[in-house]
Amino acid sequence: MTAQSLKSHFLLNEDITFLNFGSFGACPKPIFERYQAFQLEMERDPVQFITVRVAQYLKKSREALASYISCDTDDLVMVLNPSYAVNTIAKSIKMQAGDEILTTDLEYGACDRTWKFVCGQVGAKYIRQLIQLPLVDAKSFVDNLFAGVTERTRLIFISHITSTTALILPVEEVAARAKALGIPVFVDGAHVPGHIPLDLNALDVEYYTGACHKWMMTPKGSSFMYVKKSLQHDIKPLVVSWGYEALFPSHSTFLDWHSLNGTRDYTASLCIADAIDFMETHDWTNVARQSRELVKSYAHTFSELLASPLLAPLNDDFIGQMLSIGIKTPDPERLYRTFVDEYKIEIPVMRHDDKVYLRYSINGFNTAEDLEVLMAAIKDLKMKGILL
Ligand SMILES: Cc1ncc(COP(=O)(O)O)c(C=O)c1O
Repeated sequence: MTAQSLKSHFLLNEDITFLNFGSFGACPKPIFERYQAFQLEMERDPVQFITVRVAQYLKKSREALASYISCDTDDLVMVLNPSYAVNTIAKSIKMQAGDEILTTDLEYGACDRTWKFVCGQVGAKYIRQLIQLPLVDAKSFVDNLFAGVTERTRLIFISHITSTTALILPVEEVAARAKALGIPVFVDGAHVPGHIPLDLNALDVEYYTGACHKWMMTPKGSSFMYVKKSLQHDIKPLVVSWGYEALFPSHSTFLDWHSLNGTRDYTASLCIADAIDFMETHDWTNVARQSRELVKSYAHTFSELLASPLLAPLNDDFIGQMLSIGIKTPDPERLYRTFVDEYKIEIPVMRHDDKVYLRYSINGFNTAEDLEVLMAAIKDLKMKGILL
């Protein structure tokens, strides 16, 4: 399947060189049409749809997703976004003053904020362990992270794929070392489903969240929260509604507490089986592999052009369908606007602590030409002094 024929499946504006699949994904036409069909069904019969059919449809979605990411159907609930899951779990973990949540300094800013807020409420500490970049191998990463473990470490929170630095982190090795020490692990896999293979049974961590509306390409507002069965009773509903002390409880308090949060549009999450079908029909394993190859084939070129070292070895252990490069610019927000307004390139320019990263994402519809367009723009921006 060519990139051009895959592009015809997407609704993306043809005038834009789209190099930011990572932020919000993009929904292919057949999935989007299914979404709209669900919305029409809801508007034609809102009461029956919301009070009866949604629960049946959601069950099918959870079954399809659970089989796709290998876990028990009843150990995951659909939530709006990973922030929702992180908030739910962070606010439920029992913490006391002086307890520590260990994480890396590569985490997503919204999650850092959630943990700082929650820890601040009880006098616990959110420890952002400084990770040595570039990454070298899994063992040095794990040694680096676990140097931050103390007797007060209550939980390890870690991205499976980081946002600003676009790195696949060795969460399997982290989970194994943590298990040996008896420390629970919460993996933020916002970028993982549909991007790299995920097997939750094998990973065997306590908590995991992932977005379906990024690389699985469902409509926006579809993500999941996984909690190991033995810990589900401790996870409190973020929004208390009819699922709490339910009039007609299901077989699972976990499902009741976290699925019914008041009236809302569930239809994005009803498209999960269609999204999986779309990926299978279009041989997405191969599309993802080709995309990773394209990402890597330009990595050295951009690294040299921007005089900035690669953040990890160029292999499938660390690099997926995104690549981030540290850049120097006097004004990151102006640089981003210039990419969009003057060059018609959608690419994120992201601040992270005192650094700024440029991240390109590649999916089946992208070609080498898109990265050539980016390269030409970068050369131009360097001449103008907007990029140093
Ligand atoms: C690593 C990571 N975690 C969490 C999130 C949170 O996503 P949301 O804002 O949709 O909750 C993102 C979003 O891009 C992310 O990249």
